[in-house]
Amino acid sequence: MKQILGFSKLSKDEKVEWLTQNYFKDSENATYLLKQYWNDDKKLQKLHDEFTENTISNYYFPFGVAPNFNINGEIYALPMAIEESSVIAAASNAAKFWSNKGGFKANVVDTRKVGQVHFLFTQNFSLLEQFFNKTKSLIFDRLQPLTKNMEKRGGGVLSLELRDKTSALANYYQIHAEFETLDAMGANFINSCLEEIAATLKEEAAKYFNASEDQQPLEIIMSILSNYVPNCIATAEVSCPVEDLLPKKEDAQHFAHKFIEAVNIAKAEPYRAVTHNKGIMNGIDAVVLATGNDFRAVEAGIHAYASRNGQYSSLTSAKVENEKFTFSIEIPLALGTVGGLTNLHPLVKLALEMLGNPSAKELMKIVAVAGLAQNFAAIKSLVTTGIQEGHMKMHLMNILNQFNASPSEKQEVKAHFKNNTVSHSAVVEVLEQLRNA
Ligand code: MEV
Repeated sequence: MKQILGFSKLSKDEKVEWLTQNYFKDSENATYLLKQYWNDDKKLQKLHDEFTENTISNYYFPFGVAPNFNINGEIYALPMAIEESSVIAAASNAAKFWSNKGGFKANVVDTRKVGQVHFLFTQNFSLLEQFFNKTKSLIFDRLQPLTKNMEKRGGGVLSLELRDKTSALANYYQIHAEFETLDAMGANFINSCLEEIAATLKEEAAKYFNASEDQQPLEIIMSILSNYVPNCIATAEVSCPVEDLLPKKEDAQHFAHKFIEAVNIAKAEPYRAVTHNKGIMNGIDAVVLATGNDFRAVEAGIHAYASRNGQYSSLTSAKVENEKFTFSIEIPLALGTVGGLTNLHPLVKLALEMLGNPSAKELMKIVAVAGLAQNFAAIKSLVTTGIQEGHMKMHLMNILNQFNASPSEKQEVKAHFKNNTVSHSAVVEVLEQLRNA
């Protein structure tokens, strides 16, 4: 039976049993594998089980570190949770490269987050405007119980704006709200405020427009934060005299030229921009994930920002002016360093401590730097040796592990591939030759 009612009510063992019996040829092995990843520490395992629903095991991701990041004069070791080989090595290389050239300069431009109440209104806009203007202060009063703590710390609801969206969709209006959520990512705060705003609007509209229940001109459709936060922006930059980029002056100049053209290609060509930005996200997601933030929200917001001028484009820019090379990034980031997983997941807590328990603003800067560093390393390899050289070194290790190569086999195969091109079949062939010798 591949269908089941009440799966969520089963115990973890029962879930594993049902699943392995019904979906696997070798249910014993599947059970073994799932349980092999359970943590022996029962309390810790329970904590992880309860992060989500229907948990049957843990899914390991490597938790690595990229040291030597000089950010605004402070030295950081960045925690990175990522499965893709070469990403951490690339970040570390970029960190080292820039550490003696002034390091990374990062900045937070603004921290406003957004939420919207989406609703339909069937009468004319000026009536709605009058109603909203009359009701606005009551909305703020009703929000008080939710916002007073945040306000005490300097945050809260910054603005409420009625927007006429009828040119995009018939009868569609919204309350576009801006929030300051300080060190919290703020999703719960924002969504609770929006639902309160919606409830007040509904209630007050019923009185104001004096219509029967089924003829209300105002119908709330939904209330939800937006993951598009174009006013919650971090920037990061590196710069140095062109001649400091490489030991030889002509090489440095040629490198700067190719590097800038590579960025310009990503500015001009969406196919390239997507891959270029994907490389940036390698660094960003890894730090976002390690620090317990919502990488899907960050991804969605950043890619939308990359399209803000009507065409998907590079998130980074590069230039040479007066013989000075400058490479920079500007990205929207809604991050938190309190609340959610940050207070719960032991490794997230460790990652945040590794970063000196940053404020959300500090974390925004660090994450922007991770993206810029990753992009620097990718473009540097792309315009010089090509990307495969570094990738294949890591790929070689993965293939060797896949074939359970012994330490001495690893050594011999690695020695062979110092001067030969790595491919899956070539590695397998060399390994087989060794084993059959
Ligand atoms: C691979 O994960 C990322 C790169 O493709 C990024 C890029 O092409 O800039 C290397």
